[in-house]
Amino acid sequence: MHTANDNTAWHNRAAAHTPGGVHSNARLVGAETVLVRGEGPWLWDVEGNRYADYMLGRGPAYLGHSPANILEAVNAASANGMCLGSATQLEIEASEAMLSVVPWADQVRFTSSGTEAVQSALRLARAATGRSTVIQFEGQYHGWVDGVSLIAGPSVDRPLPATKGQAPSSYSDTVLLPWNDLPLLERIFTERGDTIAAVIMEPVNIFGGVMPADGYLAGVRELTRRHGTVLIFDEVVTGFRLAPGSAADLLGVTPDLGTYAKAMGSGWPVSAIAGASWLFDGVASDQVRLSGTYNGNSAAMAAVIATIEATRGGAVHAAVDEYGTALATRLVAKAAEHGIAVRNEGYPAGFWLSFDSLSAADSQQAGFEVAKALRGRGVIMYRRTWLSSAAHDAETMDFTVDAFDRALSDWSHG
Ligand SMILES: Cc1ncc(COP(=O)(O)O)c(C=O)c1O
Repeated sequence: MHTANDNTAWHNRAAAHTPGGVHSNARLVGAETVLVRGEGPWLWDVEGNRYADYMLGRGPAYLGHSPANILEAVNAASANGMCLGSATQLEIEASEAMLSVVPWADQVRFTSSGTEAVQSALRLARAATGRSTVIQFEGQYHGWVDGVSLIAGPSVDRPLPATKGQAPSSYSDTVLLPWNDLPLLERIFTERGDTIAAVIMEPVNIFGGVMPADGYLAGVRELTRRHGTVLIFDEVVTGFRLAPGSAADLLGVTPDLGTYAKAMGSGWPVSAIAGASWLFDGVASDQVRLSGTYNGNSAAMAAVIATIEATRGGAVHAAVDEYGTALATRLVAKAAEHGIAVRNEGYPAGFWLSFDSLSAADSQQAGFEVAKALRGRGVIMYRRTWLSSAAHDAETMDFTVDAFDRALSDWSHG
């Protein structure tokens, strides 16, 4: 028998009116926990249970939930009108702030979601090159829309839709390649480099848990440059998280276009495309159309400016990285106490644990199972990835290691 105020009762209410009880399919796993509040590194559900949060809204809450300085800036901006519908002072300041931390780019356009930023980047690349073909990589995510939501098919030229309802015409120009296979990419470029508008990639796939092989990114950079193809880094997750200048800065490989969202707005819906001026040719004359009612809205712009100011100088990133490094070290040691050999992979601000004795697929599955056991012990994460924020502290650290200890017992005896 459930009371009116428990998770199950609320989830049933949700599911009565909304498919799966959630408003994004990425949330179907864990939908039965109904949240009411987030503060700093913690979340609370309808039953009053508290969770240490390593999901962080799936990326945005890099500074923790509702950080006071960002909230103040957003509230002040919103009080002056939220959607003014023409050029605003805040947009201009946000653009300048953005380009100050992505200095290789000359121009920026703000959009509202990661998916929109990706679509905009692909349009810019196709317009600038006059070519149609786009290369993507298996296992990477660039949003849910028809043209990019793909899985491997019978050949690299014939990817399959990730879900029902996607029009085949929308991805007929997409080549889907396995990740980290530079010789294959080189062959495709040799065969038809002059038809390829863009290569789009997540330089580090944090939620998929896949790193680039040594030299791979530099190799792709060299090939794309040689063939006049636009290299797009989808930094919707990694942007502003892995380093102040994002993964491009950290990894030392500069794309032609970058897409950003999540951590750049500390939770307010905002995204951006940034890149070299020539890629934006024709946008100002409306020959290349990029539009959006909510682009540059005041709350989003204030959030971007305040987030960049709050993280300027690198001290916040250093502190988040220090937390992530210490947490990973303690989790690896705790697993060893259970006789389980794990390694941490990724970067301090977004890492995952790999189980030494298991295949890659089984290791990923084990990670999902441990994440599920952790939720029962008061720790929330997305897939198997640990995202840290500036709000995590000694209390969350001890709580998390203790929960991990118990979750491993649940998992290994379960
Ligand atoms: C790398 C990447 N690109 C694009 C997207 C799509 O962003 P959004 O969900 O804001 O549309 C995501 C979402 O998680 C992402 O991880």
